[in-house]
Amino acid sequence: MFNVVLIEPEIPPNTGNIGRLCLATRSTLHLVKPLGFSLEDRQLKRAGLDYWDEVDVRLWDSFAQLQASQKPKVRYFFLTTKSRRAYYEVKFQPGDFLIFGRETKGLPESLLASNFDNCITIPMHGTRSLNLATAAAIVLFEAVRQQM
Ligand SMILES: C[S@@+](CC[C@H](N)C(=O)[O-])C[C@H]1O[C@@H](n2cnc3c(N)ncnc32)[C@H](O)[C@@H]1O
Repeated sequence: MFNVVLIEPEIPPNTGNIGRLCLATRSTLHLVKPLGFSLEDRQLKRAGLDYWDEVDVRLWDSFAQLQASQKPKVRYFFLTTKSRRAYYEVKFQPGDFLIFGRETKGLPESLLASNFDNCITIPMHGTRSLNLATAAAIVLFEAVRQQM
């Protein structure tokens, strides 16, 4: 239904959990290299439980390569703490791409700057950021909820 993109993910259980979310929502998981782990990682499969092999996973050498392979009209939303536009203000459409940054560094500043209008945030207080898999669950299920 949707496309979840993880740019250079580092922690296997996060990717495993997000794979499970994608399976549960009939979404595709795109992983942009370099990955901080092997796709054979035991922790990755444990977090995705028995389901990992059923997840629709696509691997990309770069975000530019992913974009070049998509239709020109697809929409990309960049999840960051550095935006003021709340994720629930967006009217999501099936096929949208939800893009998340790496655990330690977030999304590259250059990507945020060149996609300023499509940056969205999960409003919060008291912490610098949420766990990657938690952030993905919040936004992906809001996008799914809007289709019901
Ligand atoms: C652990 S966070 C990255 C933290 C990093 N130090 C930073 O400041 O961006 C990993 C990813 O989860 C997503 N994320 C976490 N909290 C978020 C929030 N409140 N709003 C939007 N995205 C969030 C973003 O995509 C982020 O790149």
